[in-house]
Formats: sequence, C-alpha cells, structure tokens
Amino acid sequence: MTMYKVPVIGGDGVGPEVIEEGKKVLRAAAEVYDFDIEWLDYPHGANYYLETGELIQEDTLRELKKYKAIYLGAVGDERVKPGVLEKGILLAIRFYFDQYINIRPIRLLEGIWTPLKNKGPKEINFKVVRENTEDFYIGIGGRARKGLSNYELDIIRELYSVKFGLDIDSDSDEIAYQVGMISKEGTERVIRYSFELAQSSKKHVSSADKANVISMYEFWREVLESVAADYPDVKVDFNYVDAMAMWFVKNPEWFDIVVTPNMFGDILTDLGAMIQGGMGFAPGGNINPQGTSMFEPIHGSAPKYAGKSRANPIATIWAGAMLLDHLGEKEASNTIVGAIEQSISKCNVKTYDMGGSFKTSDVGDEIARIILEAPVG
Ligand code: IPM
Ligand code: MN
Repeated sequence: MTMYKVPVIGGDGVGPEVIEEGKKVLRAAAEVYDFDIEWLDYPHGANYYLETGELIQEDTLRELKKYKAIYLGAVGDERVKPGVLEKGILLAIRFYFDQYINIRPIRLLEGIWTPLKNKGPKEINFKVVRENTEDFYIGIGGRARKGLSNYELDIIRELYSVKFGLDIDSDSDEIAYQVGMISKEGTERVIRYSFELAQSSKKHVSSADKANVISMYEFWREVLESVAADYPDVKVDFNYVDAMAMWFVKNPEWFDIVVTPNMFGDILTDLGAMIQGGMGFAPGGNINPQGTSMFEPIHGSAPKYAGKSRANPIATIWAGAMLLDHLGEKEASNTIVGAIEQSISKCNVKTYDMGGSFKTSDVGDEIARIILEAPVG
C-alpha cells in the first residue's frame, strides 16, 4: 500500500477547524482507494509565535523539504501586527520552496449558488495560474525621510540574485516606496507551465497585465510572446487587468487558462472566488513541479469565526483533493470533488455562508460518508 507523509499546518483562526475536515475527507478517500496518509502536524501560527517567538525557522523548512506536499489552513491573527505571520510563515514557505506557480481553479461546482445567476458550471470553469515569487512580492520597499539616504537591496534566489543600490534624495517629509521586479527566467517558467496546462485543456491562454502603465509588464508580454511561439496551436490573448476583472464577471466562459503576475493574480483570484460561489469554495495550490508544493484554501484565517464551527471547509477539502492529484491519486481527487458537489446539490448539507445551518464538521462528515458509501468520481 502506498503511504504518503504529509506535513500539516492548521495555523490560525478557522484554519485548524477546516483542516480537520480536510483530513477527515482525505482519510475516507485513502480508505476507498487503498493508500495511506500519515499526517505530520506542525504548530506554526500565532499562538506558537507568541509563545516561542518563532515564525518558521530554517531548520523546520529544511525538514519540510523531504516531503512533496504540505497542507495548510490559514495564517493571520489580530494579536500580531498585520503581515508578520503572512510574510513570516506563508510567503516564507512559498519562497523557500520556490513554489513559483500558484494555481487557483475558478470552477462553479454543481449545486453552488453564484451571484452570476445565468451562468452555470459549464460557463464558470477555468484556472488562474498566478506567478508566485516575484513582482511586488519580493519584499523590497521601505520609507525614507527628508534628505539623503542609501539602501542596498538584495534578492537572493536559486534562480538568480539581484542587487539594487538605491540613493534617495528627497525633500518630502517622508516617502514610502516599493520595488517590483520580474525576471526573464521567473516569467518564462510560469508562462511555459500555463501553455503546458492549456495543452490538456481548451488550448487558450489569457494573460493579465498593466503594460499600458507599468513598464515591467511590457517585458511580461514580450516573454509571453516568445513562449507562445513554441505553441502555435494555443490561442493567446493579452488583457489589461482592470478589463479582465470586468470579463471575469461578464463572460467567465471565455476563459480557460489565465496567467498573471503575482499581485494581479492575488486580486483576480478573490474575484474568481466570488464568481464560483464565495471564499468558502476557492482552493489553491502553490506548486514547485520539482520540489515541495503546498495546498491551501485561498481564504484567510477569519478570526471572527474561529471556534464557532461556522466556517465552510469546502475550499480546504478541495485543496486536499488538489494535493492528492499532485501526489498522483487522480481518481481519489476526482471522487472528492464529486462528493463535494453531491453533499451540496443532493444532500443539502450547507454551512451558514450557503444559507444553511450545518456546522463545519457536518460538512466533512457528509462528504466522507458519500465517499465511503458510494464513490462517484
Ligand atoms: C493569498 C493571500 C496572501 C497573498 C497573503 C496572506 C500574503 O492573500 O494567498 O492570496 O497575498 O498571496
Ligand atoms: Mn489573496
């Protein structure tokens, strides 16, 4: 029997609750499809940080490198300054493992209500491939007060290293700045991944940028054009991100594979989550095809709902299905997604966000029951 060891970080807020349901459902799928999962629990998150001062140490990251996939709930807590846990744990993992692809399916499952009333599961079914390590996320920014100042800024990556020397001479009281950067290698690899993905899909790649204002994205377009030349059978279109936001709502059926720089992908996938029914239904995978990947719901830790059994665990369960697919358990993965659809459309087990009154654990119980009793898929 195949045995998978999967590190799990429940994290903060509703994270541990939704992860519990994910584990429950994946355990059911493992039973039916004859494999085994050993969960390796990690305590990282706000409590652990407040108790020990550790966000996530190099030692821990090195240890995680042994595994192919990590399962994550959510990080973020009101007791800690915004950004500390997000950067110190979530982005630390994405960057350390060079998870350069952030894949986020936008798919309306059977039985889920979307504000786009006249669009159904056929119209809302595409994937966003978000570049996940560059752009305005490289962590280079700061403030400078009136006068002269100088900063040395380093970006050290496996793929390359870049140094910026920044001389500031300012007569403003104080300025804040951020340096965005995309590299040829970093852009090329994520775009190539999108074109490969399009091969087994509808052969249509749509790119989002803001090349009319931000020159870094002219470079994005150039790289995309050069990669596209290797895939003459794939239809390509370029879009400005603001227009893309409009098309997501107006004509979601146009899209197949949407490829974006980091920040625009972050924004567009929250919009994508809404058209697929809400944050409770939006999973994501942070992928390094050769290394350690991480699967998580795209929602945050929702501290307001922590411990109340109200959170919808479907995004996390679906992220677990993506994790299994990544490990090679395609059938088990499809069965989980089918069982999610059944639990909503046939069995009517709905949490508060869907207008129901079932608890977080009821949803996991129901989906696991469907898998064990009548595997669909
Ligand atoms: C996401 C989140 C993160 C991001 C934050 C928490 C750093 O919004 O996964 O979409 O911006 O990538
Ligand atoms: Mn986001």
